[in-house]
Amino acid sequence: MDNNDKKRRRLPFDAGGEEFRRAGHALVDQIADFLDSVAQRPVTPADSPRRVRDLLGRGSLPQTGRPIGELLEEIAPKLFEHSLHNGHPRFMGYITSSGNPGGALGDLLAAAVNPNMARWDIAPLACEIEAQTVRWLAELIGYPTDCGGLMVSGGNMANFLAFIAARTDRANWDIRKEGLYGQPRRLSVYVSADAHTWVDKAADVTGLGSTAVRWVATDRQQRMRPGDLETLVRADRRAGLLPFLVVGTAGTTGTGAIDPLIDLAAIATREKLWFHVDGAYGAPAAALPDAPEDLQALHLADSVALDPHKWLYSPLEAACCLVRNDQALPDAFSFHPSFYQVARREEEGQPGLNYYNYGLQNSRGFRALKVWLGLQQLGRDGIVQTITDDIELTKQLQRVVGAHPELEPRTRSLSIATFRYRPAKLRATDERAQEYLNELNEKLLVELQRGGDAFISNAVVNGEYLLRACIVNFRTDLADVEALPGTVAAIGQRLDMELRPADLR
Ligand SMILES: Cc1ncc(COP(=O)(O)O)c(C=O)c1O
Repeated sequence: MDNNDKKRRRLPFDAGGEEFRRAGHALVDQIADFLDSVAQRPVTPADSPRRVRDLLGRGSLPQTGRPIGELLEEIAPKLFEHSLHNGHPRFMGYITSSGNPGGALGDLLAAAVNPNMARWDIAPLACEIEAQTVRWLAELIGYPTDCGGLMVSGGNMANFLAFIAARTDRANWDIRKEGLYGQPRRLSVYVSADAHTWVDKAADVTGLGSTAVRWVATDRQQRMRPGDLETLVRADRRAGLLPFLVVGTAGTTGTGAIDPLIDLAAIATREKLWFHVDGAYGAPAAALPDAPEDLQALHLADSVALDPHKWLYSPLEAACCLVRNDQALPDAFSFHPSFYQVARREEEGQPGLNYYNYGLQNSRGFRALKVWLGLQQLGRDGIVQTITDDIELTKQLQRVVGAHPELEPRTRSLSIATFRYRPAKLRATDERAQEYLNELNEKLLVELQRGGDAFISNAVVNGEYLLRACIVNFRTDLADVEALPGTVAAIGQRLDMELRPADLR
């Protein structure tokens, strides 16, 4: 060791490649065993909050440090034992996919290189990978590949970006400079009554207020009624409002309904509104050769949100906002801070990938890498096959539910099926019986979710509380789907014996 070496700082963070290798190999071995065993584990241990807190103890911040290998060895098994496993084959709740393990390795690599995706010149290759990921996602869903786009954390954020881009583009004053102060006309936005609540949040945080959101009625298939949309837009204009945005949903959260996107695009064009499609869940299914016509029309939208962490099996977090006009995001978000005035780099022709100008974040992580890897690991054929299989399993679920004497199938769209439990001997169909069925199914779901055999969620459709299975899970198989009716009915029968009021016996 020469004099210089002696002077170098020796911190636990930089203990050298050998310690990293040892700790890393041990962790990867533990993860591989966990992945091999996930199907044999309960979907959830359903621990109480107290039990979970006790696992960590209530000690204060440690005074002295410990080796990373030791720390990982301690926490990894706890996470495996005490988590709800959305990578379990019988996890069919919400729209959270099994995370592709290759994506976990991608995240490890991304964190190790640690590029800051704010600007091209400080993360050149990583920014090009993000740009290619955006292009590939657009290509997958039939969107123009010369679009603009940005990887963000989730569906809410992807939709927010589009919302803000639309607001900037369609306000007929300089809204970025003047805001909403002193404007005589109020902006309004149109979305189906079954859409996700991100619209409320976006209207709230952008200062429009949630009354700016017009929830348009849906038809029997939970699709927005285009006639009602037109009527509302015209009435609002007459009342002095400034309609600026129509949001169509490609796969609603509750039932997977796809709005009549072709009709909505035509209305948006006629009424000079920005047309955004929330495809956070359903957009990847546009890649299927037999995709519904409306899903094949995503190219009509001014912007599309889609989430690789939903139906492209990427580990959280990974979403993408696509905009047809490449300039729309910088128009809505760019500012030019003095600390980023690097003339030489701007001259090198890469200002287009200075991503801090594309959205809300300045420093940004390399979340594109895991998506880029996943897209290549499956390829278009693999993606189409896996999504097709998920949809087929949902059809099979509807079949076995329909064949069960105590289960009533309700809706099915994309990879979401809804149904409810109805005890065989409950003959009444009046309001009182409906109320009881809602209560029974809600309690049934709570118990099922805690049981650990399978995990589904709920939807409320036309006042009915329904059980809802959403299959965005490459580990789910026919046997898992066929086991579900028995699990549901067994809980339903037991609860019905306890809960049925005397007047319904
Ligand atoms: C249609 C739709 N939009 C937006 C979101 C929000 O996505 P995220 O939870 O990734 O923010 C969801 C979530 O399920 C969704 O289903």
